[in-house]
Parts: sequence; C-alpha cells; structure tokens
Amino acid sequence: MRFAYLAALLLAVTSLPNLAQETTHLTIDTTKPVARVSPTLYGIMSEEINYSYDGGLYAEMVSNRTFQSTRGLSLENWTLIQNGNSRASIAVDSTTGPSAALAHSMKFVAASASPQAEAGFYNTGFWGMALHSSTVYHGSFYAKTDNAAIGALTIRLVNDKTGAVAASSTVPTLGGSWQKYEFTLKTGALVPSADNHLEFLVEHPGTAWFSLISLFPPTYRNEPNGKRIDLMEKLAALHPAFLRFPGGNYLEGQHLNEHFEWKKTIGPLVDRPTHTTPWNYWSSDGMGLMEFLTWCEDLHMEPLLAVFSGYALNQDHINPGKDLEPYVQDALDEIEYVTGSAATRWGAERARNGHPAPFDLKFVEIGNEEYHDPSGTYDARFAQFYKAIKARYPDLQIVASAPVTLVRPDILDDNDHALHTHFYRTAQQFFEDVHRYDHYDRSGPKILVGEWATREGSPTTNMGAALGDAAWMTGLERNSDIVVMASYAPLFVNVNPGGMQWPSDLIGYDALTSYGSPSYYAQVMFSTHLGDQIFDTKMNTTNPRLFASATYNSKTHRLFVKLVNASSMVQAVEIKLSGAAHVRSKAVVTTLSGKTTQETNTIADPARIVPVTGNVTNAGPAFTHTVPRYSIQVLELTLE
Ligand code: AHR
Repeated sequence: MRFAYLAALLLAVTSLPNLAQETTHLTIDTTKPVARVSPTLYGIMSEEINYSYDGGLYAEMVSNRTFQSTRGLSLENWTLIQNGNSRASIAVDSTTGPSAALAHSMKFVAASASPQAEAGFYNTGFWGMALHSSTVYHGSFYAKTDNAAIGALTIRLVNDKTGAVAASSTVPTLGGSWQKYEFTLKTGALVPSADNHLEFLVEHPGTAWFSLISLFPPTYRNEPNGKRIDLMEKLAALHPAFLRFPGGNYLEGQHLNEHFEWKKTIGPLVDRPTHTTPWNYWSSDGMGLMEFLTWCEDLHMEPLLAVFSGYALNQDHINPGKDLEPYVQDALDEIEYVTGSAATRWGAERARNGHPAPFDLKFVEIGNEEYHDPSGTYDARFAQFYKAIKARYPDLQIVASAPVTLVRPDILDDNDHALHTHFYRTAQQFFEDVHRYDHYDRSGPKILVGEWATREGSPTTNMGAALGDAAWMTGLERNSDIVVMASYAPLFVNVNPGGMQWPSDLIGYDALTSYGSPSYYAQVMFSTHLGDQIFDTKMNTTNPRLFASATYNSKTHRLFVKLVNASSMVQAVEIKLSGAAHVRSKAVVTTLSGKTTQETNTIADPARIVPVTGNVTNAGPAFTHTVPRYSIQVLELTLE
C-alpha cells in the first residue's frame, strides 16, 4: 500500500509538464563588448502577396477599380443593380477610357430607370467594406455620358445584411467627356462591420462610362492615397529600421515583361496602367514607388530599394552587356527619382509628384533570389549594375541577391557589398541553426537576411513558430556585426478565403480588423529591446531548446538579456554578469508564452498570446531566474 502510494506520487511528480530540469548557467561578460550591434538589424520586407497592399495596407476600399484581372479586362467584384422594373447592363468597353494608361472603362446602360426603379451597379470591396460610426469616406471616379438626361448619380454605402443605407451622396450631372468627380460619404451611428457595399444609381435612362472608382477611409496621417491606420500602427510598434521593397517575386514578375516597372507606378493614379503579379491577382499599383518612399518616411525606415536585374521568376533573363543597358539606365533613373535634386530629370518628376525634397537612400539591391538563375549570368549582370551605380553614387551600399565572384579590380573588392539570403524553416531547423553565423568569415561580404520565417501555423504563425524565430534571432543578435539587416517575410495576409497565397505570415487582417501573430510579438520584443553593443554569452545547459543573447545600451546602461525556452519544462537559469559590480535589483521582464506550441492568435481571438510585463526583484551580479515553458523573455537589467 505504502509502495503503491509512493509509486503514484513519483509518477505524478515526474509527469508534471513544468518540472524544472537541471539549472542552466548563463555567463554574460560585461567587461567589454565583443562587437557593435548593427543599427539596421531589424527591418521589414513586403510585396504584393496575400493581398498585402490591395485589400491590405493600401486603404482603397473598392476592389478592381480599373476593371482588370489576371484573366484580362474584367468586371470582377462589380454587380448590376436593377431595382423594380428597371433594365440595365454593365460591360467592359475597350474603346474608351480616361487616359492612355487606362484606355478602357465600364460601360453602363440604363435602358429603363425611374425614381421608383433605379438602375446602377455596386462593388463588394475586398471581402466587404469596413464602416465605422461618424466617419467621412472620400470617393472619386472618372466618368462621361453621351446624354445628360441620365441625370444625377446617387452613391450609397449599404449594409449587405439589412439593406440599411449607412451614407449617401449625389453627383448632380455627368459631362460629355472624361472628367474626374469627387464625393464624400459620412456615416452616422452604426455598429462597425465589413458587411457593406458601395452602390451607384441613376433614376433616368441613359449611357455612361466609368473608370478608376475609388473610396478611401481616413488614412494614416491623413495622407491622400494612403495606408490603413491599424496596420501602420502595428508596423510602427515593430520599430523597423528599414523597409525592403518592392519584392520578392513581385519585383521580378513571372515573366520579364511583368516585373515591377517603377515608372508606371508614379504620378496620378489615372496614369498608372496597373499590372499583373506573380501571385495570381492584379495589382492596382496604388502602392507605387512614391508610396513606398513615404511609407519609409512615416515610420523612419531606411529604404532598401530592390531594382529589377533582368531576371524573372520563370527563369528568363536579359543578357549582360548591350541588352541589359536599358535596365541599368532604368535603375539609375530610379535612384535619381529617389535621391536627385529637383533640378535633375527624375528629381523634377518626383517634385511634380508632390515630394520636392530628395529621400535619403543608402541601400540598393540588385534583383531577387538570383541563385535560382540557371543561366549563370548574375555575376556579369550584377557587375554591370554595380559599376554603373557606383560610378554615379559611390556612397550607396550595393546588395547582391546571390553570391557573386567579383574579380575585376576596376570594380570592387569581394567584400565591398552585402549578400542577401533567405531562410524559410521549421522551428526545429532554426533551433539547430542558431550558431550559423558564430564562426562566419568576417572578411567576406556582410549578410542581409532579407526574408526568413519559421513556417508553422496558418494563415499566421503560432507560438511554436515564434519560439523558432526567437531562438534564431538570438543568433542574429550575437552576430549582428556581420548580419547587418534582417527582415521577416511575408509581413501580411488577408485571412479571408482566397486571400492567402503563402501560409505562415506575420500580421493577419480582414477589411475591419487586424492582429499580430505570436511571431509578430516576438519581433516587437526583439526590435524594441536592443542595445548598441553585443556582450559575449556562454550558456552551460542540458536543455537543447534553450537560447540566449545579450545586448547593452551604452547610453542608458540597460542590459537586454533575451531568453528563449522552447521546451515543455520550466527552466531555472543562474545568470552571472561577470565584471558587473553593481546591478540594480529591480528589473523588468517581458514574457511571451503559450500553453502549447500550437496556441495562436486569430482574427476572432487576436490577443490570446501577447507580451506581458512584470518585475524581477532579485537581479544582481549573480542571480537565479526562472524561464517559463514555451516562452520568450526579455530581461531589462540596469548596470550601475
Ligand atoms: O516571401 C514569399 C516569396 O519567397 C518571395 O516573393 C520570394 O522572394 C521568396 O521566394
């Protein structure tokens, strides 16, 4: 009986999921930093994927505003309205449009309409249109009619489920030639929802043509053609040091003629022809080069501008030499647009587009994932771009998107550029890879990890992924003398059915709300607790899933110790700050933890896993700290 009792007790104790293992010893040498932390270590990368801009960051509410899809001219997301006994039709008309860039339009014919039986059409938005109480929405469109008798146009925001009109506006008359019309829609009190659509209605028969039908909610900093406030605020909380843009595969295009042609993305929207993306949907190009640059300005990010290198996703390439020259010139023009004074050809264009002051640009990348190119021409193409750019902009840092062998002494040394790499892994793969850069050759090119993520969880990643990310980031921090930039990818996903092309993303949203994944909060914790010096850390542990790094802010004397316990056991850690005579006993600890590795945040449950801040009261030159299971912690210690 006594034996049975003891056996049961032993079983109960040993099966406790949070049984502490042997104590781990972590020694942080505070006597001297081993290197400086790269000031650009944590940034963001984005592209048009997963409806990141259209239906995402770009606040436009009308989907398919220029009647195009990957299958050609199309009225996708537009539907006819025939109230009462009215009769009408809508069709794409490829013979007339408001500009050379938009040479087609939607032809609307109201064969029969009256005040009691209106005819028109509506747009369903990007999986709905989000409406809030007492909010002003700014709209515009281009139109013309062949008969003014068609009369006034009524524009309404209507609830899909109840038919209630949330806001209404009138455009009194349409003219006989293409013109831009503007309107505002103001909501009253309502329950915020995305179950709304936008209607255009007439009360008289007639024919009219429409293009570039647009509606914006209030945007971040009230910028026209601007960005969604909730998503910009989430990005601002990341304190990103840089933005890598415009892609990714989106830079390359599926075919050579489908790459991101920056000259077609600037200026008035009506002069942007729009283009297809490699992610199987159409881009409105409302997010053009200028919008990327103002995005950088708004969030104080260094632009990392990727220029098209003459290589597409389908592995076609442009031969180096004469054939490549126009593309090199295009990159030079692009850099001039970004950085040139208003007296230069492209600087003047930027000024005309509303930004007379040049942008600050330090980093230019040539192409994307060129290591996939079977032609072996990247070396020569890179050299051609490098030479031309450096001749005009000697201070720019050039980034190669695949290893290059630069042997021409007139061009550069091998270490005079940064090398861009990508890592999409499982958590276990990242655990095994945390020492990747510990013994990396410091005489070669600096490293830019321009895309990386633990791919576990969908549409956004789960706690297990956050642990994989955080573990790997301890390695990036320890080596941020050589790893100068790192950006998680993909950044965004619209969680509606059909919105996602790439599972495992950082921030999820629908038209109404957004949320951060556990990986997002891991990024926030790492980037907002970063010193300027790296301290050496030595960890003696039997726990294969315990990781640490330490950086020190030499101005505030704060030491940030990051601890990642990806195991199912609570872990006691004896922390020794060697060389630190006085350490304030009170410290702040921020914890992100999950009950399981699968636990996650969703659009319906957005704050299940968020960082929690608490106090440590026993800090000192040597103290014991307990790290919860499945957790990421930052200890903020003050050295006195
Ligand atoms: O992040 C998704 C894709 O992954 C990027 O477009 C591409 O660069 C990489 O292969």
